[in-house]
Amino acid sequence: MSGRLDGHVVLVTGASSGIGLGVAEAMADAGAAVAINYRSHREPADDLVARITGKGGRAVAIAADVSDEADVARLFDETVSAFGRIDILVANSGIQKDAAIADMTLADWNAVIDVNLTGQFLCSREALRRFRSQPADTRPARSAGVIISMSSVHEIIPWAGHVNYATAKGGIRMMVRSLAQEVAGDGIRVNAIAPGAIRTPINQDAWDTPEALEKLLRLIPYGRIGEPEDVARAAVWLASDEADYITGTTLFVDGGMALYPGFRDNG
Ligand code: BGC
Repeated sequence: MSGRLDGHVVLVTGASSGIGLGVAEAMADAGAAVAINYRSHREPADDLVARITGKGGRAVAIAADVSDEADVARLFDETVSAFGRIDILVANSGIQKDAAIADMTLADWNAVIDVNLTGQFLCSREALRRFRSQPADTRPARSAGVIISMSSVHEIIPWAGHVNYATAKGGIRMMVRSLAQEVAGDGIRVNAIAPGAIRTPINQDAWDTPEALEKLLRLIPYGRIGEPEDVARAAVWLASDEADYITGTTLFVDGGMALYPGFRDNG
């Protein structure tokens, strides 16, 4: 295989399903060696490794809970021991524990903040430490390292019934900008991708019946649900030298969902 990410090593968290799986496969297709992190679903992670290695690529599956500090350190250790270095982190792991606010338990709140926000902090911090320790003359890219944080349109769109999730994504928006500002001088780029409604298990209720899909499409000006590949292609580009001058921003991959579609007919 050869491509834009030849010689790069990428770690994708939450890569056993959905967007993470699509991103990991696209990174491998672009030539990167890929560490596929999963928390509990080992089989799809192993299947993805087999698919990538079957195509002549390099991949390993590594179990770790991104909200656990020691697990995160081990996840990076295992990535570096498999491939010798790390160049790109895609901090993708995310969960939903939806409830109206009066019924939202502290456990629901904490679980979402722990994985979706603290998990991104822990992984980003570890990636920065590793990027800084790698000699400049060994880099496969112009940058010293790239972090892509998987956000959501809900980093700007408020979401009733999902206050924990929207709060975590809003936090990611400022984390990405603050981090990017802090580490740009080291040659490290930090950006977010904000997917809209992508056809994955996390939002299956929103697309798996014709009625649900019809309702969802009213929120998407471009008129179709997104596929993991839509996000994956954007991630490969953002990780590559083609996006070398881009840091501290969010790329919306949402078919226009964040464009206030309620105003389409004159408000
Ligand atoms: C959520 C999905 C939702 C989409 C658009 C995503 O961040 O995980 O459940 O369909 O945003 O609302």
